[in-house]
Amino acid sequence: MTTSAERTRVAIVGAGPAGLLLSHLLAASGIESVVVDQRSREEIENTIRAGILEQGTVDLLAATGASTRVLTDGHRHDGIELRFAGEGHRIDFPSLTGRSVWLYPQHEVLRDLVATRLADGQDLRFGVTVDHVADATSDRPRIVGTDDEGRPFEIEADFVVGADGSRSVVRAAVTGSSTGGYFREYPFAWFGILCEAPPSSEELIYSNSPNGFALISQRSATVQRMYFQCDPEADPHALDEEAIWAELQSRVPGTTLQEGRIFQRDVLRFRSFVAHELRRGRLALIGDAAHTVPPTGAKGMNLAVADVVLLHRALTALLDDRDERPLEAFAEVALRRIWKAQHFSWWMTSMLHVAPDASDFDRRRQEGELRSVVESEAGRTYLAEAYTGWPFETRL
Ligand code: PHB
Repeated sequence: MTTSAERTRVAIVGAGPAGLLLSHLLAASGIESVVVDQRSREEIENTIRAGILEQGTVDLLAATGASTRVLTDGHRHDGIELRFAGEGHRIDFPSLTGRSVWLYPQHEVLRDLVATRLADGQDLRFGVTVDHVADATSDRPRIVGTDDEGRPFEIEADFVVGADGSRSVVRAAVTGSSTGGYFREYPFAWFGILCEAPPSSEELIYSNSPNGFALISQRSATVQRMYFQCDPEADPHALDEEAIWAELQSRVPGTTLQEGRIFQRDVLRFRSFVAHELRRGRLALIGDAAHTVPPTGAKGMNLAVADVVLLHRALTALLDDRDERPLEAFAEVALRRIWKAQHFSWWMTSMLHVAPDASDFDRRRQEGELRSVVESEAGRTYLAEAYTGWPFETRL
């Protein structure tokens, strides 16, 4: 079988936010890349994901021209509400940190990025399956697989990036196994809905109730996103609309939810994961290929963006100046933020959800924890700093 061998400077596997943003920053630095993804453009642009962008993510997307719509179509949120023991407590971000967050769904970021990259002439290929990385330890690694017509292909590069999500294929070449990492599962999941209704609240409500957790989020004036804690094995189609509204409503006492037709439902499993290695030679992992966080801290895509900022710096030093030092520091520096975000996501999750085996002691202790946060400026500030995002590290 003949394969057409091609060459590029950076081969990026995965056209999610991490891979596309990296290709965008590299192009701005004059470094050519090829981005391949197994999925179709339509699938990528329509996958429903979380919606909160940190201040630093928004600033970067706007300043680099990756997304200009984020500032016009996104909504700035200056706070969230933590609700427990029947009362709401607002965490005001600007007064505590000088920063805010933006509600702008990830698939909108993806639409902007795909459009920007294609308009710039980026080599971006959909429907391409990467099977493995060949010559992974050499300085000419290759991605090997089949293209959108089922023909074998190979792309040789100075550097290969795995931005191919939680089921990463590149990960095996970096860590030595497709699963190799630090891992934690949770005994609950989120039942998520999209519905046609006006907003029930102007800001997000994270509610800890005796019946379990609920999150009231928004999408637009006419579409809302809401979640409630459920069993990881729950069947998203087992409940009728009335039962879903009853579950949600019982978990946000004090707010009357605006109900409407539910047109999308899904069950999101909770996992925490960090790959054992983020880099090996001329290969690196970023985004969900490198780590997964439970969604309670709204960190997922923001963490991917922070990885991209670091890897972009490391790659420009390597490829423009033959300076290997930033690349040598990449994993260590990236991991500091990753583990802070892991902690924050785990903490928000455990503080707000009701574990299936929670004792009376656990429930009362949790209420004490929530009070310690909302009644202390230091506590509110820690939450606000983490939620709005720590400044990006730029020294490598
Ligand atoms: C969402 O709107 O989908 C969303 C918001 C905040 C989260 C998770 C998901 O923490």
